[in-house]
Amino acid sequence: MGVPLLPAAARRLEGKAAIITGGARGIGESIAKHFFNPGAKVVIADILDDLGNSLSNHLSSSSTSFVHCNVTKETDVENVVNTAVSKYGKLDIMFNNAGIPGALKFNILENEYSDFQNVLNVNLVGAFLGTKHAAKAMIPAGQGSIVITASVCSSIGGIGPYAYTSSKHGLLGLMRNATIDLGRYGIKVNCVSPHVVPTQMTREHFKLKDGDEFPDVYSHNFKCGDILRKEDVAEVGLYLASDASRFVSGHNFVLDGGFTAGNQGLCSYQQFGN
Ligand SMILES: NC(=O)c1ccc[n+]([C@@H]2O[C@H](COP(=O)([O-])OP(=O)(O)OC[C@H]3O[C@@H](n4cnc5c(N)ncnc54)[C@H](O)[C@@H]3O)[C@@H](O)[C@H]2O)c1
Repeated sequence: MGVPLLPAAARRLEGKAAIITGGARGIGESIAKHFFNPGAKVVIADILDDLGNSLSNHLSSSSTSFVHCNVTKETDVENVVNTAVSKYGKLDIMFNNAGIPGALKFNILENEYSDFQNVLNVNLVGAFLGTKHAAKAMIPAGQGSIVITASVCSSIGGIGPYAYTSSKHGLLGLMRNATIDLGRYGIKVNCVSPHVVPTQMTREHFKLKDGDEFPDVYSHNFKCGDILRKEDVAEVGLYLASDASRFVSGHNFVLDGGFTAGNQGLCSYQQFGN
């Protein structure tokens, strides 16, 4: 019997085929890199064709591909799943990660119906379509892992705009229903819910220019100056996607250093640590 050259932990996704929506940049790009290194075949699905193609070529042309996919279009989502199955013979992992913040207006009177609907379409309907078409491919195989990038805004209000918070809360319902529905086919479904991660999305949110430092938004739960990185999210995503989390389904894995564990207003009032 041959001795594997790499330890099992380094081969965690060997032979697995994965789709990552919103995989061309930010957290999705980091997930693509994290999945490629331990051996997965990765399909990057995004609307940013240049970035997606160049990431795919940079990683490997034989094990990675880019497919143009607008997650709000069912035919696009169906096509990306079919492409993964025809190229790699199966689909083991569906990572519904694509998302947009929408207009950064926190007063309900300023919120437009069209913007609300657009955010819901990308963040929630997109993940529904990804889950549905992934399930179609995974059910006959009797196994699979579906991961959804939600947010700390999936469980608390007041941090994101209305549509964003509503869409992320909605993802928990989608995830929980799919957990119950698909568990009998050996398919696990989970969310990963990060606090603020420096990416293009959040740089725009905080109106940062090149060279501007990222604000300390983590309150006193974090060591001052410490930040949540996209690689931290990808590492949790890797765990949820891999067989290491074999019996883990129906979870909202909050990745916030404890931010949502307490009532921030009360915590400041109590002056913990002072
Ligand atoms: N950055 C954060 O602080 C943070 C925190 C919590 C959750 N999230 C979530 O993480 C995910 C990724 O965010 P990010 O920070 O990397 O943002 P980002 O803007 O850097 O990346 C988002 C990606 O999604 C793609 N996308 C947007 N609309 C799409 C569509 N209709 N179809 C296909 N792809 C589309 C974009 O082209 C882009 O590549 C989002 O779901 C976001 O809500 C981000």
